[in-house]
Amino acid sequence: MSTQQQEPETVESPQDPEMKGAESPQQERLKEKRDRAAERPTDESELEGETVHIKVFRYDPEVEAKQEPRFDDFYVPFEKGMTVLDAVMYARDNYDSSLTFRHSCRQAVCGSDAFFVNGRQRLGCKTQISDLEQPVRIEPLPHQEVIKDLVVDMDHFYEQMHAVEPYFKQEDLPAGDLEEQRQSRENREKVKMSTRCIWCASCMSSCNIAAGDNQYLGPAAINKAYRFAMDEREDEEIKEHRLRILEQEHGVWRCQTQFSCTEVCPKDIPLTEHIQELKREAVKKNLKFW
Ligand code: FES
Repeated sequence: MSTQQQEPETVESPQDPEMKGAESPQQERLKEKRDRAAERPTDESELEGETVHIKVFRYDPEVEAKQEPRFDDFYVPFEKGMTVLDAVMYARDNYDSSLTFRHSCRQAVCGSDAFFVNGRQRLGCKTQISDLEQPVRIEPLPHQEVIKDLVVDMDHFYEQMHAVEPYFKQEDLPAGDLEEQRQSRENREKVKMSTRCIWCASCMSSCNIAAGDNQYLGPAAINKAYRFAMDEREDEEIKEHRLRILEQEHGVWRCQTQFSCTEVCPKDIPLTEHIQELKREAVKKNLKFW
């Protein structure tokens, strides 16, 4: 089983002295998360020696007998610290080697094992089985085309991510070869959370707007644009270019602030807040004073 435990939640203090004492949205969210963890429905020790019942979505368009989607039941021996990913890996390794899903790092870093678990987008390797009601229902991410079992087609998601030109652009490079491009501490703080995205597509999958508008850039891509548009090391001209991409019909203005993306983000990125901030930036760019 994985040695992956719940991520230690470290919250850095705000750097701005004026902010000290006040809780940032991020700190509030982490506090809520800790409170939720304290109210876990099941004590892990209650599950020791038991089996966990998981129901896993199955579908394989290439095998005639498996073209009709269904759920398979597996009973997995519980071990302390068991995650959803551990459970499906056990089922694959011991009961059905054709069970297909993506995973890699097992440490909530690569973003490849986002599933729809008990009706919510979650990372398999970051979700403790003991936190979930049984049977644990494991499905592929909604609103994405299923390739096989828990594997969805990520092409569209990656296209949207690349549409915002997610790389640093700078016209005026420092004069000396060894000179650094400095970023202030305050600016680093501002973009810090946006850099945590692991491209898992949980946010996109949870978004009603993205589900109904295939061209909507989506929360992850807009957050990626935020990461660069708010970086003080990029020129104003480049920032304007970024805002033009974001202002388009299927950009930031499609967001209806439902917060579903923010709710499911496994990295606690304040996605909706970033989208709102970019809306304000776009308005400011277009303001004219006579
Ligand atoms: Fe990499 Fe879960 S396996 S995020």
